[in-house]
Amino acid sequence: MVRRLPGRRPGTGHRGYLSRAFLIVTLTLLTLVLTACGDAQQSTLIRKGPAADRIWDVYGLIWIGAAIVFVLVEGLLVYTIIRFRRAPRTAHGRPVPVHGNTKLEIIWTVIPAIVLVFIAIPTLQIIADLADAPTDKGAPLKVDVIGHQFFFEFSYPELGIKTTNTMHIPTGTVVDISLQSNDVIHSFWVPQLAGKTDLIPGRTNRMWLEATDAGTYHGQCAEFCGLGHALMRFQVEAQAPADFDAWVNEQKNPSAGGGQGQQLAQSLGCTGCHSVDGSASVGPTWKGLYDHEVKLGDGSTVTADDAYITESILTPNAKVVAGFQALMPSFEGRVTDADIQAIIAYIKSLSE
Ligand code: CUA
Repeated sequence: MVRRLPGRRPGTGHRGYLSRAFLIVTLTLLTLVLTACGDAQQSTLIRKGPAADRIWDVYGLIWIGAAIVFVLVEGLLVYTIIRFRRAPRTAHGRPVPVHGNTKLEIIWTVIPAIVLVFIAIPTLQIIADLADAPTDKGAPLKVDVIGHQFFFEFSYPELGIKTTNTMHIPTGTVVDISLQSNDVIHSFWVPQLAGKTDLIPGRTNRMWLEATDAGTYHGQCAEFCGLGHALMRFQVEAQAPADFDAWVNEQKNPSAGGGQGQQLAQSLGCTGCHSVDGSASVGPTWKGLYDHEVKLGDGSTVTADDAYITESILTPNAKVVAGFQALMPSFEGRVTDADIQAIIAYIKSLSE
Protein backbone atom coordinates (compact mmCIF):
# COMPACT_ATOMS: atom_id res chain seq x y z
CA MET A 1 0.00 0.00 0.00
CA VAL A 2 1.25 3.42 -0.88
CA ARG A 3 1.34 5.79 2.07
CA ARG A 4 -1.05 8.64 1.50
CA LEU A 5 0.57 12.02 1.91
CA PRO A 6 -1.73 14.77 3.20
CA GLY A 7 -3.15 17.01 0.50
CA ARG A 8 -1.68 14.94 -2.31
CA ARG A 9 -2.89 12.26 -4.65
CA PRO A 10 -1.06 9.04 -3.94
CA GLY A 11 1.63 7.93 -6.34
CA THR A 12 2.10 11.29 -8.00
CA GLY A 13 5.11 13.50 -8.09
CA HIS A 14 8.71 12.69 -7.33
CA ARG A 15 8.14 11.39 -3.78
CA GLY A 16 5.20 9.22 -4.85
CA TYR A 17 7.32 7.63 -7.55
CA LEU A 18 10.17 6.95 -5.11
CA SER A 19 7.95 5.37 -2.47
CA ARG A 20 6.31 3.16 -5.08
CA ALA A 21 9.69 2.06 -6.45
CA PHE A 22 10.86 1.37 -2.88
CA LEU A 23 7.74 -0.75 -2.23
CA ILE A 24 8.19 -2.80 -5.40
CA VAL A 25 11.89 -3.45 -4.76
CA THR A 26 11.22 -4.41 -1.11
CA LEU A 27 8.39 -6.81 -2.02
CA THR A 28 10.47 -8.41 -4.77
CA LEU A 29 13.45 -8.95 -2.46
CA LEU A 30 11.16 -10.28 0.29
CA THR A 31 9.57 -12.74 -2.14
CA LEU A 32 12.98 -13.98 -3.26
CA VAL A 33 14.17 -14.40 0.33
CA LEU A 34 10.95 -16.15 1.43
CA THR A 35 11.16 -18.69 -1.41
CA ALA A 36 14.27 -20.02 0.32
CA CYS A 37 12.29 -20.81 3.49
CA GLY A 38 10.25 -23.78 2.26
CA ASP A 39 11.26 -27.22 3.45
CA ALA A 40 12.84 -28.82 0.44
CA GLN A 41 11.36 -32.26 1.11
CA GLN A 42 9.34 -32.10 -2.08
CA SER A 43 11.66 -30.13 -4.31
CA THR A 44 12.37 -31.38 -7.81
CA LEU A 45 15.58 -29.38 -7.68
CA ILE A 46 17.11 -31.68 -5.04
CA ARG A 47 17.73 -34.82 -7.06
CA LYS A 48 18.47 -38.11 -5.37
CA GLY A 49 18.38 -40.57 -8.23
CA PRO A 50 19.10 -41.13 -11.94
CA ALA A 51 15.44 -40.82 -13.03
CA ALA A 52 15.25 -37.36 -11.45
CA ASP A 53 18.62 -36.52 -13.06
CA ARG A 54 17.30 -37.36 -16.51
CA ILE A 55 14.35 -35.01 -16.02
CA TRP A 56 16.72 -32.33 -14.78
CA ASP A 57 18.75 -32.55 -18.02
CA VAL A 58 15.70 -31.60 -20.10
CA TYR A 59 14.56 -29.08 -17.48
CA GLY A 60 17.95 -27.34 -17.61
CA LEU A 61 17.97 -27.30 -21.41
CA ILE A 62 14.51 -25.74 -21.60
CA TRP A 63 15.35 -23.27 -18.84
CA ILE A 64 18.45 -22.01 -20.67
CA GLY A 65 16.50 -21.79 -23.94
CA ALA A 66 13.69 -19.88 -22.23
CA ALA A 67 16.21 -17.49 -20.64
CA ILE A 68 17.76 -16.72 -24.04
CA VAL A 69 14.31 -16.11 -25.58
CA PHE A 70 13.35 -13.91 -22.61
CA VAL A 71 16.46 -11.72 -22.92
CA LEU A 72 16.04 -11.41 -26.70
CA VAL A 73 12.34 -10.53 -26.56
CA GLU A 74 12.62 -8.09 -23.67
CA GLY A 75 15.74 -6.55 -25.20
CA LEU A 76 13.91 -5.97 -28.50
CA LEU A 77 10.94 -4.55 -26.61
CA VAL A 78 13.05 -2.06 -24.65
CA TYR A 79 15.00 -1.14 -27.81
CA THR A 80 11.76 -0.54 -29.74
CA ILE A 81 10.22 1.58 -26.99
CA ILE A 82 13.25 3.84 -26.84
CA ARG A 83 14.17 3.93 -30.53
CA PHE A 84 10.64 4.52 -31.87
CA ARG A 85 9.21 6.64 -29.06
CA ARG A 86 8.77 9.57 -31.43
CA ALA A 87 7.37 7.55 -34.36
CA PRO A 88 4.46 9.10 -36.32
CA ARG A 89 1.02 8.97 -34.63
CA THR A 90 -2.53 8.74 -35.90
CA ALA A 91 -5.07 11.50 -35.31
CA HIS A 92 -6.02 9.67 -32.04
CA GLY A 93 -2.44 9.80 -30.79
CA ARG A 94 -1.79 6.09 -31.32
CA PRO A 95 1.18 4.65 -33.26
CA VAL A 96 0.43 4.14 -36.96
CA PRO A 97 -0.49 0.42 -37.37
CA VAL A 98 1.37 -1.77 -39.85
CA HIS A 99 -0.58 -4.39 -41.82
CA GLY A 100 0.98 -7.44 -43.43
CA ASN A 101 4.69 -8.16 -43.58
CA THR A 102 5.24 -11.57 -45.15
CA LYS A 103 8.94 -11.75 -44.33
CA LEU A 104 8.32 -10.95 -40.64
CA GLU A 105 5.42 -13.40 -40.39
CA ILE A 106 7.51 -16.23 -41.84
CA ILE A 107 10.32 -15.46 -39.39
CA TRP A 108 8.07 -15.46 -36.31
CA THR A 109 6.47 -18.73 -37.40
CA VAL A 110 9.66 -20.58 -38.32
CA ILE A 111 11.74 -19.62 -35.25
CA PRO A 112 9.20 -20.88 -32.64
CA ALA A 113 8.69 -24.05 -34.74
CA ILE A 114 12.43 -24.74 -34.62
CA VAL A 115 12.49 -24.04 -30.87
CA LEU A 116 9.59 -26.50 -30.33
CA VAL A 117 11.36 -29.22 -32.32
CA PHE A 118 14.49 -28.75 -30.20
CA ILE A 119 12.39 -29.13 -27.03
CA ALA A 120 10.37 -32.08 -28.41
CA ILE A 121 13.34 -34.31 -29.35
CA PRO A 122 14.90 -34.67 -25.85
CA THR A 123 11.43 -34.66 -24.22
CA LEU A 124 10.12 -37.59 -26.27
CA GLN A 125 13.40 -39.41 -25.72
CA ILE A 126 13.21 -39.00 -21.94
CA ILE A 127 9.55 -40.09 -21.85
CA ALA A 128 10.58 -43.34 -23.55
CA ASP A 129 13.63 -43.76 -21.26
CA LEU A 130 11.58 -43.33 -18.10
CA ALA A 131 8.85 -45.81 -19.06
CA ASP A 132 10.97 -48.94 -19.18
CA ALA A 133 13.18 -49.80 -16.21
CA PRO A 134 16.85 -50.18 -17.21
CA THR A 135 18.23 -53.69 -16.60
CA ASP A 136 21.95 -52.97 -16.91
CA LYS A 137 22.37 -53.04 -13.11
CA GLY A 138 20.68 -56.41 -12.75
CA ALA A 139 17.05 -57.37 -12.34
CA PRO A 140 14.91 -54.46 -11.10
CA LEU A 141 12.75 -54.77 -7.98
CA LYS A 142 9.10 -54.94 -8.99
CA VAL A 143 6.54 -52.89 -7.06
CA ASP A 144 2.86 -52.52 -7.90
CA VAL A 145 1.42 -49.21 -6.76
CA ILE A 146 -2.35 -49.21 -6.34
CA GLY A 147 -4.16 -45.95 -5.71
CA HIS A 148 -7.16 -45.89 -3.36
CA GLN A 149 -9.27 -43.05 -2.02
CA PHE A 150 -7.20 -42.00 -0.04
CA PHE A 151 -4.05 -44.00 0.33
CA PHE A 152 -1.37 -45.79 -1.65
CA GLU A 153 -0.98 -49.54 -1.52
CA PHE A 154 2.46 -50.94 -2.32
CA SER A 155 2.62 -54.57 -3.33
CA TYR A 156 5.83 -56.51 -3.97
CA PRO A 157 4.70 -59.38 -6.23
CA GLU A 158 8.07 -61.19 -6.10
CA LEU A 159 8.36 -60.91 -2.31
CA GLY A 160 4.74 -61.47 -1.32
CA ILE A 161 4.61 -58.29 0.80
CA LYS A 162 2.10 -55.45 0.92
CA THR A 163 2.38 -52.10 2.66
CA THR A 164 0.35 -48.91 2.73
CA ASN A 165 1.68 -45.38 2.41
CA THR A 166 5.33 -46.31 2.99
CA MET A 167 7.26 -47.85 0.14
CA HIS A 168 10.52 -49.48 1.19
CA ILE A 169 13.21 -49.77 -1.47
CA PRO A 170 16.90 -50.74 -1.47
CA THR A 171 19.38 -48.01 -2.52
CA GLY A 172 21.26 -48.39 -5.80
CA THR A 173 18.57 -50.68 -7.18
CA VAL A 174 16.23 -49.89 -10.04
CA VAL A 175 12.60 -50.14 -8.92
CA ASP A 176 10.25 -51.14 -11.72
CA ILE A 177 6.85 -49.69 -10.86
CA SER A 178 3.48 -50.52 -12.34
CA LEU A 179 0.63 -48.20 -11.42
CA GLN A 180 -3.07 -48.95 -11.18
CA SER A 181 -6.07 -47.38 -9.52
CA ASN A 182 -8.82 -48.96 -7.51
CA ASP A 183 -11.27 -46.08 -7.96
CA VAL A 184 -10.49 -42.70 -9.55
CA ILE A 185 -7.43 -41.11 -11.15
CA HIS A 186 -4.54 -40.52 -8.73
CA SER A 187 -0.97 -39.52 -9.46
CA PHE A 188 2.18 -40.95 -7.91
CA TRP A 189 4.87 -38.36 -7.29
CA VAL A 190 8.13 -38.40 -5.33
CA PRO A 191 9.77 -35.19 -6.55
CA GLN A 192 13.31 -35.99 -5.41
CA LEU A 193 13.32 -39.38 -7.12
CA ALA A 194 11.19 -39.20 -10.27
CA GLY A 195 8.51 -37.41 -12.23
CA LYS A 196 4.80 -37.93 -11.64
CA THR A 197 2.83 -40.71 -13.30
CA ASP A 198 -0.95 -41.10 -13.14
CA LEU A 199 -2.79 -44.12 -11.78
CA ILE A 200 -5.76 -44.60 -14.08
CA PRO A 201 -8.66 -47.03 -13.52
CA GLY A 202 -8.65 -49.86 -16.07
CA ARG A 203 -5.13 -49.16 -17.23
CA THR A 204 -1.61 -50.03 -16.11
CA ASN A 205 1.03 -47.30 -16.34
CA ARG A 206 4.74 -47.89 -15.95
CA MET A 207 7.61 -45.93 -14.48
CA TRP A 208 10.84 -46.59 -12.63
CA LEU A 209 12.97 -44.88 -10.04
CA GLU A 210 16.17 -45.42 -8.12
CA ALA A 211 17.41 -43.81 -4.92
CA THR A 212 21.14 -43.14 -4.72
CA ASP A 213 21.18 -42.33 -0.99
CA ALA A 214 19.40 -43.94 1.95
CA GLY A 215 16.74 -41.75 3.51
CA THR A 216 13.07 -40.85 3.65
CA TYR A 217 11.65 -39.25 0.52
CA HIS A 218 8.28 -37.54 0.72
CA GLY A 219 5.68 -37.86 -1.97
CA GLN A 220 2.02 -37.20 -2.49
CA CYS A 221 -0.87 -37.79 -4.80
CA ALA A 222 -0.63 -35.16 -7.53
CA GLU A 223 -4.09 -35.46 -9.07
CA PHE A 224 -7.22 -34.15 -7.35
CA CYS A 225 -9.09 -37.32 -6.40
CA GLY A 226 -11.72 -36.23 -3.89
CA LEU A 227 -12.07 -34.67 -0.45
CA GLY A 228 -9.14 -36.61 1.00
CA HIS A 229 -6.71 -35.71 -1.82
CA ALA A 230 -4.61 -33.35 0.27
CA LEU A 231 -4.17 -36.08 2.89
CA MET A 232 -2.91 -38.60 0.35
CA ARG A 233 0.73 -38.37 1.29
CA PHE A 234 3.25 -41.18 1.37
CA GLN A 235 6.92 -41.91 1.94
CA VAL A 236 9.62 -43.78 0.13
CA GLU A 237 12.00 -45.30 2.67
CA ALA A 238 15.29 -46.01 0.89
CA GLN A 239 17.50 -48.40 2.84
CA ALA A 240 20.92 -49.98 2.27
CA PRO A 241 20.30 -53.38 0.59
CA ALA A 242 21.14 -55.32 3.80
CA ASP A 243 18.66 -53.23 5.83
CA PHE A 244 16.05 -53.69 3.12
CA ASP A 245 16.49 -57.48 3.24
CA ALA A 246 16.09 -57.38 7.02
CA TRP A 247 12.88 -55.37 6.62
CA VAL A 248 11.56 -57.90 4.07
CA ASN A 249 12.26 -60.72 6.54
CA GLU A 250 10.49 -58.87 9.33
CA GLN A 251 7.45 -58.32 7.08
CA LYS A 252 7.29 -61.97 6.10
CA ASN A 253 7.62 -63.20 9.68
CA PRO A 254 5.97 -60.58 11.89
CA SER A 255 7.55 -61.03 15.29
CA ALA A 256 4.84 -60.44 17.85
CA GLY A 257 1.90 -58.16 18.55
CA GLY A 258 -1.25 -57.89 16.49
CA GLY A 259 -0.91 -61.13 14.54
CA GLN A 260 -3.79 -61.87 12.19
CA GLY A 261 -5.64 -58.61 12.82
CA GLN A 262 -2.53 -56.61 12.04
CA GLN A 263 -2.07 -58.43 8.73
CA LEU A 264 -5.73 -57.89 7.83
CA ALA A 265 -5.50 -54.21 8.72
CA GLN A 266 -2.59 -53.89 6.32
CA SER A 267 -3.96 -55.99 3.47
CA LEU A 268 -7.40 -54.33 3.61
CA GLY A 269 -5.72 -50.94 3.61
CA CYS A 270 -7.09 -49.83 7.02
CA THR A 271 -3.64 -48.65 8.09
CA GLY A 272 -3.48 -46.46 4.99
CA CYS A 273 -5.79 -44.03 6.76
CA HIS A 274 -5.68 -45.08 10.45
CA SER A 275 -2.30 -44.74 12.12
CA VAL A 276 -1.41 -47.15 14.92
CA ASP A 277 1.07 -44.83 16.64
CA GLY A 278 -1.21 -41.92 17.54
CA SER A 279 -0.18 -39.74 14.60
CA ALA A 280 -2.76 -37.81 12.61
CA SER A 281 -3.88 -39.21 9.27
CA VAL A 282 -6.94 -39.34 7.02
CA GLY A 283 -8.88 -41.15 9.75
CA PRO A 284 -8.65 -41.30 13.55
CA THR A 285 -5.68 -43.17 15.00
CA TRP A 286 -6.26 -46.61 16.46
CA LYS A 287 -3.80 -46.12 19.28
CA GLY A 288 -5.60 -45.80 22.60
CA LEU A 289 -8.97 -46.00 20.84
CA TYR A 290 -10.47 -49.17 22.24
CA ASP A 291 -13.05 -48.68 25.04
CA HIS A 292 -12.40 -44.94 25.11
CA GLU A 293 -14.91 -42.16 24.63
CA VAL A 294 -15.05 -40.77 21.12
CA LYS A 295 -16.52 -37.38 20.28
CA LEU A 296 -18.64 -37.40 17.14
CA GLY A 297 -19.19 -34.71 14.56
CA ASP A 298 -22.74 -34.02 15.82
CA GLY A 299 -21.43 -33.26 19.33
CA SER A 300 -22.50 -36.54 20.94
CA THR A 301 -20.09 -39.09 22.35
CA VAL A 302 -19.86 -42.83 21.97
CA THR A 303 -17.67 -45.52 23.51
CA ALA A 304 -15.38 -47.28 21.03
CA ASP A 305 -16.45 -50.78 22.00
CA ASP A 306 -16.88 -53.87 19.82
CA ALA A 307 -20.31 -52.73 18.61
CA TYR A 308 -19.11 -49.26 17.60
CA ILE A 309 -16.01 -50.59 15.79
CA THR A 310 -18.10 -53.20 13.96
CA GLU A 311 -20.57 -50.51 12.89
CA SER A 312 -17.69 -48.28 11.76
CA ILE A 313 -16.34 -51.06 9.54
CA LEU A 314 -19.70 -51.91 7.97
CA THR A 315 -21.44 -48.50 7.94
CA PRO A 316 -18.50 -46.11 8.38
CA ASN A 317 -20.37 -42.88 7.84
CA ALA A 318 -23.11 -43.49 10.42
CA LYS A 319 -21.03 -42.04 13.28
CA VAL A 320 -18.13 -39.95 12.03
CA VAL A 321 -15.61 -38.77 14.62
CA ALA A 322 -15.44 -34.99 15.19
CA GLY A 323 -12.79 -33.35 13.05
CA PHE A 324 -12.91 -36.03 10.35
CA GLN A 325 -14.87 -36.33 7.13
CA ALA A 326 -17.16 -39.08 5.90
CA LEU A 327 -14.62 -40.54 3.48
CA MET A 328 -14.37 -44.20 4.46
CA PRO A 329 -15.84 -46.85 2.14
CA SER A 330 -18.02 -49.60 3.62
CA PHE A 331 -16.37 -52.99 4.13
CA GLU A 332 -19.72 -54.78 4.09
CA GLY A 333 -19.30 -58.00 2.11
CA ARG A 334 -15.49 -57.60 2.04
CA VAL A 335 -14.87 -58.86 5.57
CA THR A 336 -16.17 -61.87 7.49
CA ASP A 337 -17.28 -61.75 11.13
CA ALA A 338 -14.01 -63.50 11.99
CA ASP A 339 -12.05 -60.76 10.17
CA ILE A 340 -13.88 -58.10 12.18
CA GLN A 341 -13.12 -59.92 15.43
CA ALA A 342 -9.42 -60.14 14.47
CA ILE A 343 -9.27 -56.42 13.64
CA ILE A 344 -11.02 -55.53 16.91
CA ALA A 345 -8.49 -57.69 18.78
CA TYR A 346 -5.70 -55.82 17.05
CA ILE A 347 -7.22 -52.40 17.88
CA LYS A 348 -7.63 -53.61 21.47
CA SER A 349 -3.93 -54.56 21.61
CA LEU A 350 -3.06 -50.97 20.65
CA SER A 351 -4.68 -49.68 23.85
CA GLU A 352 -2.83 -51.96 26.22
CU1 CUA B 1 -5.29 -39.44 -4.84
CU2 CUA B 1 -5.27 -37.12 -5.12
